[in-house]
Amino acid sequence: MLADKDRIFTNLYGFQPWGLEHAMKRGDWAGTKELLARGQDTIIQQVKDSGLRGRGGAGFSTGTKWSFMPKESKDGRPSFLVVNADESEPGSCKDREIIRHDPHKLIEGALIAGYAMRARAAYIYIRGEYIREAEVLFAAVEEAYAKGFIGKNACGSGYDFDVFVHRGGGAYICGEETAMIESLEGKKGQPRLKPPFPAGAGLYGCPTTVNNVESIAVVPTILRRGPEWFAGFGRPNNLGTKLFQISGHVNKPCVVEDAMSVPFRELIETHCGGIRGGWDNLLAVIPGGSSVPLVPAHQIIDAPMDFDGLRDLKSGLGTAAVIVMDKSTDIVRAIARLSYFYKHESCGQCTPCREGTGWMWRVMERLVTGDAEPSEIDLLLEVTTQVEGHTICALGDAAAWPIQGLIRHFRPEIEARIAKRRGFAVVPELPQAAE
Ligand SMILES: Cc1cc2nc3c(=O)[nH]c(=O)nc-3n(C[C@H](O)[C@H](O)[C@H](O)COP(=O)(O)O)c2cc1C
Ligand code: SF4
Repeated sequence: MLADKDRIFTNLYGFQPWGLEHAMKRGDWAGTKELLARGQDTIIQQVKDSGLRGRGGAGFSTGTKWSFMPKESKDGRPSFLVVNADESEPGSCKDREIIRHDPHKLIEGALIAGYAMRARAAYIYIRGEYIREAEVLFAAVEEAYAKGFIGKNACGSGYDFDVFVHRGGGAYICGEETAMIESLEGKKGQPRLKPPFPAGAGLYGCPTTVNNVESIAVVPTILRRGPEWFAGFGRPNNLGTKLFQISGHVNKPCVVEDAMSVPFRELIETHCGGIRGGWDNLLAVIPGGSSVPLVPAHQIIDAPMDFDGLRDLKSGLGTAAVIVMDKSTDIVRAIARLSYFYKHESCGQCTPCREGTGWMWRVMERLVTGDAEPSEIDLLLEVTTQVEGHTICALGDAAAWPIQGLIRHFRPEIEARIAKRRGFAVVPELPQAAE
C-alpha cells in the first residue's frame, strides 16, 4: 500500500479546506519560481524521466506530448494549454475530487506545464454538471491571481500566464480533445479530423496541448520530489502513483491514490473492504471506465492494475475507473445500458458511429431478453469491427469495445438467453469462478 508520505493528493477527501492558505500549508506553491527557473527544456525532460503517462485514458507520455509544442513562434501565434476537466466517462470521478478539494495543485500544475510549453494561457474546460466544483475552481483561480501566482509576472518569474475556467454544456463528446477545442471556440462540440494535430493547429488555430486534470495536477509534486521518486512506483512503462475510482459491488466504494500496478485483489482488499459477498461472488470488472472491455473475475484477480497489465487482458487502464460487478449483475443488461450511453452521446458526424451505435444498442436490447437469432451474435461482433477504427474519433471504438468484451467472455450467457426465449432449457457455461 502507498505510504501516506508518498501521496500527492493529501487533501483528496476534503478533510482540510481547499483554500490557498491551507493549500500552501500542504506544500502547494512552495518555491514555484525556482521550479520555473529550471527552464522549459529541463522541466519537460524531468516530466519525461518521471515516466508520467496521460491520466485521461490513452496513456501517452506527458513529457513527450509537451515536446511536440513549438519552442518559438515563427508567425506570432501564441500557444495554449487546455486542461480537460470534462470527466464524463461513466465510472470516472477523480478529477472532481482534485478540483473541489485540491484545486491549487491543478492551477500550479497548469502554470508549470504552460510555462514548459511556452503557452500564453491555460483554459480549464470543466464539465457542465460540476457546478460546485466550478465554483471552487473559479474562486481558487481568483486567489492565485490575487497572490500574484498567475497573471502578469507569475510567481515573480517574469513570465505572464493567464488561467481561464470554461464551463461545458454537459456533452460527453466535448471530452475528446478536438471537440473540446471546438467547444471552447464557441462552436458545436464535434471532433476535428486529424491531422492537423492540436500541437500544430489547435485552439483558435494556435499550437495547443490538451491534458487531463490529474496529468497536470501531479506535475508540481513530481518536480519537487524528483522524477526518480515518482518513477519509484509501479513497474517499467507504468510508473507513478494513480487515482483509482472504485465503484459497484465492493463493500466500500472509494477514490484512492495508490501505486500504479497494484494487483486488483490488493486494491480492493486494502481500500474497499473486499467484494460484496466475498471473492467467489465476483463476476467481472470494467477496469478503466465504460469504454474499456470487461474482464472476467478469474482473469483480473491477480492482474496488475496498469496500462500494460490490462492491455494484456485485452482491456485497458483508461481513467482507472474500476467498475466491479458481482454475480447479481445482469451483465448483458449492464453492457446494453452502456451501448445506450454511446448511442446517446454520438455527435453524429460519421456514419459508422451515428448509425452503428444505434444499431448496436437495439441488438443489445434484444440480447438482454434473448429475443434474437443465434447468428446475430456474430453479426453484432462483425458490426463492432466495422465501427471500430473507422470513425473520426475514439467514441466509435468506445462503443464497440464493451460489446466485444461481453461476447468474448459471456457468449454462453447470451446464447442461453436466446435458447431460453425459444423454450429450450440451457444452463450457461459462465467464465470460470474466482479461486
Ligand atoms: C469520446 C471521448 C471522450 C473523452 N473524454 C475525456 C475526459 O472527459 N477527460 C479527459 O481527460 N480525457 C478525455 N478523453 C481523452 C482526450 O481526448 C485526451 O486524450 C486527453 O484529455 C489527453 O490528456 P492526457 O494526455 O493528459 O491523458 C476523451 C476522448 C474521447 C474520444
Ligand atoms: S466517432 Fe462518433 S462521436 Fe466521434 S466524430 Fe464520429 S460521430 Fe462524432
